[in-house]
Amino acid sequence: MKKKWWKEAVCYQIYPKSFMDSNGDGIGDLQGIINKLDYIQDLGIDVIWICPIYQSPNADNGYDISDYQAIMKDFGTMEDFDRLLGEVHARGMKLIMDLVVNHTSDEHPWFVESKSSPDSPKRDWYIWSDGAEDVLPNNWESIFSGSAWEYDKKSGQYYLHVFAKKQPDLNWENTEMREAVYSMINWWLDKGIDGFRIDAISHIKKKEGFPNAEAGDQSQIPGFSYYTNQEGIHDILQELKERTFTRYDIMTVGEASGVNSEDSDPWVNEEIGAFNMVFQFEHLALWEKEAETELDLAAFKAIMNKWQTGLHRKGWNALFIENHDKPRIVSTLGDEQDYWEESAKMLGAMYFFMQGTPFIYQGQEIGMTNVAFESILDYDDISMKNFYYMELAKGKSHDDLMKIIWKSGRDNSRTPMQWDSSPNAGFTHGAPWMKVNPNYQKINVKAQEDTPNSILHFYKRMIQLRKQHECLVYGDFKVHLEEDPNIFAYSRSDGEQTALIINNFSRENQVVQMPEFSGRVKDVILSNYQKDDRQTDPFILSPYETIVYLLGSF
Ligand code: GLC
Ligand code: CA
Repeated sequence: MKKKWWKEAVCYQIYPKSFMDSNGDGIGDLQGIINKLDYIQDLGIDVIWICPIYQSPNADNGYDISDYQAIMKDFGTMEDFDRLLGEVHARGMKLIMDLVVNHTSDEHPWFVESKSSPDSPKRDWYIWSDGAEDVLPNNWESIFSGSAWEYDKKSGQYYLHVFAKKQPDLNWENTEMREAVYSMINWWLDKGIDGFRIDAISHIKKKEGFPNAEAGDQSQIPGFSYYTNQEGIHDILQELKERTFTRYDIMTVGEASGVNSEDSDPWVNEEIGAFNMVFQFEHLALWEKEAETELDLAAFKAIMNKWQTGLHRKGWNALFIENHDKPRIVSTLGDEQDYWEESAKMLGAMYFFMQGTPFIYQGQEIGMTNVAFESILDYDDISMKNFYYMELAKGKSHDDLMKIIWKSGRDNSRTPMQWDSSPNAGFTHGAPWMKVNPNYQKINVKAQEDTPNSILHFYKRMIQLRKQHECLVYGDFKVHLEEDPNIFAYSRSDGEQTALIINNFSRENQVVQMPEFSGRVKDVILSNYQKDDRQTDPFILSPYETIVYLLGSF
């Protein structure tokens, strides 16, 4: 397997609005990030991914861009950005940006021009379709609820938006539009950034002819499979790659919603794939589907196994369990009441030692949790607000809807970063744009820096271990105890060393046999329980225990 810097890296994802406010306006900013670079470096991070910081009317917190080559005023200036990039590089780290090119803001000059007239030279840069005020072009729905089409009275046509109506989709069939996007991308790469996380990229190709979604469309959103991972998408992605990414020594990670391990080759194959790695969502989809019931751990292991073995020696995985679109993991799969610390650490170790590049989402390293605000007015996320008001209008109760938002809302992970126990968790001296999670007195960076066994120190140790043991980066992956409903055990082996990682997903002690390992265990290099004496025949695990063993070679 080819060695690459981005395979050996650990990444940290910043949601800038909620990371650190330096000037007291209640909104995180670039100077705030600069102020915290030492913290990130001390954690052991190699690459920082910042969510969009471009100029934007903020309908979707920066994922609706009105100028790709300007910085959002709330966040600072282009000079601040250049300083940030310099400071990141000076610390030996790298910086990747979010690239949002499935759509722009409706306030982007391209769209303003496109909308101005059906004869506009940019009309075809977006996706327009005939219809009448009450006759939609088709029945596709947007990922953010409601029809995916928005009517423009003036021209009597509709435009397509896979996300919010303030996020019109670009038309990737249009050559001129593609050229404009490529030159924007190269402008950033020439500035010296180290790569991109490419937003919503599996949606750029739409089904030809825009046919109605048939009942039986496997996704819950009608139309989703007509605008996701469509046949022909790879011709566009190959061109994108050739015209931009391949010309630089960078790292690319595509957000590949709706892409399964079976079709991963053209996405991430080392020779021909469009990206170095992709964020896949098969494992998260399972958690969401089962949110009301217990996690089917065997099914989860099967999905991870498919990606791990499927890409083996062919491509590379992006490993993650949290991001700005998902609820907090310790609240979802852990036990934030009784085993907050144990389960947060276990879930960390569970994904961190697989084959791939691990991403840590801000606050995950201190076990931040979901939040439950009483009023919808305390929330900001456009997708949840759309959902709330549409369902309310259909007769659902406020209480029932809030329960869903508390469980799965995107704002769970967007509350301000909890730095210390001072007012507003040390995030701002002013009034924060979104309320801080009330548990910040207990859960914060400062408290955990001072506590050697904290979740934060556990994450530091995990990062160091990946750097010390090559088998944890490049080694082969193998699942053990595949059918066990409570234990996720896997090993990594590079011929010289083997590591065995065992995770207990349950609140009970578990006793398991893995005779293939008995007598071979050398060291415990990581665990979330302090124990003097550990048996390996059988292995005995405490609730939510994780253990990483180092073994001699086979
Ligand atoms: C991606 C982003 C999400 C955003 C959406 C539209 O899924 O992660 O935050 O709302 O794309 O750009
Ligand atoms: Ca600010």
